[in-house]
Amino acid sequence: MNARERFLRACRREPVDRVPVWLMRQAGRYMEEYRALRQRHDFLSLCTNPELAVEVTCQPLERLGVDAAILFSDLLIPFLGMGFSVTYHEKRGPVISPAEGSHAGPDRFTIPDAARDFAYLPASIEGIRREIGPDFPLIGFCGAPFTMVSYLIEGGSSHSFQETLTFMYRQPDRFSTAMGMMTRVLIDYALLQVHAGVDALQIFDTWAGCLTPYDFETLVAPWIRELTAALIPTGIPIIYFIRGSAGLLSSVSSLGVNVVSIDSFQDLAEARQRLGWGLAVQGNLEPMCLTLSDDALVARVRSMLKIHASKPGWIFNLGHGILPFLEASKVKLLVNTVKEYGQTGHIIQSNDRSTP
Ligand code: CP3
Repeated sequence: MNARERFLRACRREPVDRVPVWLMRQAGRYMEEYRALRQRHDFLSLCTNPELAVEVTCQPLERLGVDAAILFSDLLIPFLGMGFSVTYHEKRGPVISPAEGSHAGPDRFTIPDAARDFAYLPASIEGIRREIGPDFPLIGFCGAPFTMVSYLIEGGSSHSFQETLTFMYRQPDRFSTAMGMMTRVLIDYALLQVHAGVDALQIFDTWAGCLTPYDFETLVAPWIRELTAALIPTGIPIIYFIRGSAGLLSSVSSLGVNVVSIDSFQDLAEARQRLGWGLAVQGNLEPMCLTLSDDALVARVRSMLKIHASKPGWIFNLGHGILPFLEASKVKLLVNTVKEYGQTGHIIQSNDRSTP
């Protein structure tokens, strides 16, 4: 079974030989080769120059031996085509502001022409495909409407989401306009990637965990459903991630996605039970577990595999992205452990195998 079949079959809850593994933020500063490239190029160049994006996307495949590639880009890239400028700061994180000469706000920005404004995305995707070949899966991604709108309202990262929630409650019409416009942008942005050849698409709703279940269901989930409704006809699996989704799983189970990426603050078996077995899951090792001793890390991963590997529809991942200070050798040990002990014992019918 090749890596692409293994990954896509797991997304569809079909039997696989071994649990597939990839890691959120698998390309990044924890890797020496990434830091070396970053000394010569700023972060946005890595995202918008296809040659560099191909190189960074492939770094973790060589270094870690993961089972899937994820397009190297950033969640905030769509803003570049909407009349905003984005700058990244070492400590503060990203800062979003109206670009010179534009009057962009959370509900009055330019709707980009995706094919023109993000032409580097299909170029990167085609370049990555040439590198990885047809038997290796490539994941594309975009933000979800709420997380993207929250970045526009806050102007950057936030812990409390005070501005976003105040805007949502005090100016519901403007909030709804912003969500609708953002959904339109994200549909075009995601379809551009799908048409260029990604095998699956992950929607990052990183900050939706700040919402009450009622607000998530009534004010946010309808826009996610509009986004997934536009993607479902393409037939590719859709993965959906929220950091802190425990209180929201009943809405999450009806978003139209195929895979739910579970954070590390909930028990994976319990999350599966609550989502219902119609959905695959991805996750959910706590990223800080990568500071454990080698023996303890292996034991921890093996205990997860023992509980979950035999149940179809699981992709091994972290509960959130790899952190910059973690050691690449530890990350590699994690991947090796899943590959060594992740056999599922599933019965695969002979006509399911495309490789003899
Ligand atoms: O997973 C991958 O390997 C693909 C690349 C990827 C990046 N960002 C690269 C990146 C992906 C999928 C993202 C998504 C992303 N970006 C999210 C959602 C996922 C998550 O982590 O919750 C969010 C919220 C962002 C926004 C963002 N981009 C922040 C808050 C920051 C600053 C924090 C930090 O780590 O510096 C970024 C910058 C960023 N995005 C870096 C990388 C490798 C570091 C930039 C650098 O090299 O200086």
